[in-house]
Amino acid sequence: MERSAAGPRRFAVVTEEARDHHDRGPSRVTHGASAGERIRTVVVEDHEDIARLVANRIATLISERNAAGEQTVLGLATGSTPIGVYRELIRMHNEEELSFADVVTFNLDEYYPMPKESIHSYHRFMWENLFSHIDIKPENVHIPPGDLPRQDIEDAAQRYEHTIERAGGIDFQILGIGKTGHIGFNEPGSGADSRTRLVTLDTVTRRDAAADFFGEEYVPREAVTMGVATILDAREIAIIATGEHKSSIVKRAV
Ligand code: F6R
Repeated sequence: MERSAAGPRRFAVVTEEARDHHDRGPSRVTHGASAGERIRTVVVEDHEDIARLVANRIATLISERNAAGEQTVLGLATGSTPIGVYRELIRMHNEEELSFADVVTFNLDEYYPMPKESIHSYHRFMWENLFSHIDIKPENVHIPPGDLPRQDIEDAAQRYEHTIERAGGIDFQILGIGKTGHIGFNEPGSGADSRTRLVTLDTVTRRDAAADFFGEEYVPREAVTMGVATILDAREIAIIATGEHKSSIVKRAV
C-alpha cells in the first residue's frame, strides 16, 4: 500500500451510527470511493469491527516491514476512538506474538501546558492504553511536548518534524475526528502546509473535553499538534469515527 503520486492512501472507517442517516452518508464500500465520497469509506457494524480491521492492517504492515528488514513507523491518536484498536493490538501481542520491537511511534498531539504525569496528559494516556502492555522500546516512542517553556516549543516542534523525517516518514497514521472536524488539534482553518506547532483550541473542542477535566475552565487553551502537512505526508491514513454524535461531521469530512 504505497503512496501514489496523488498523495497518501486515505480511508475512513466509521460505525453504522456514525453514518449520516438523513441522506447521503458514506456507503458500504470496500474498493474505491463511491460517488459523493472524497475518501474511500468503510462502514462497519460496531467498534469491535473497526478495532479488528485497523489492528489487522497494522499487524500486516509490521510483518511486511519486518520481512523487508525495515522498522514500521506508526502515527497514533488519543481519545476514545482508537482505544479498541489499541486493545486489539495488545491482544495480538499477548496471544499472537505480534512484536513492536521494531516499531517507532509518533503521536499527533498533546495539550499545552501539560505535565507528562498528569492524568489528563496524552503521554500518560498512551502508556496506560498501549505502550506499557507491548514490547515497544521507550526510545522509539515520540509524543509532542506539553511540558516545555513556551519559548522552547517552536524548536521542539521542528525537532519533532526532523525526527519523523529521520525515521523515514510515517507508514500508517491513525486519526480520530473531533466535533469541529479537527484532525489532531488542527482546527478548521488550519493551513494545508502547516507543520507541528502550538495551536489555540476551538471553544467547542474545549467544551467537549470539559467533563474529562471536571470543568471547561480547567481545559488547556492550547495544544502542540502535528500539522496538516505532517499528517498528509503519511503513506497511509485511516480516519476512524464511531457514534451518532460524529455523523454530521463524518458526512462533511468524507
Ligand atoms: C487525539 C486527537 C483528536 C481526537 C478527536 C476525537 O489525539 O488528535 O483529534 O482524535 O478529538 O476524539 P474522540 O476519539 O475522543 O472522539
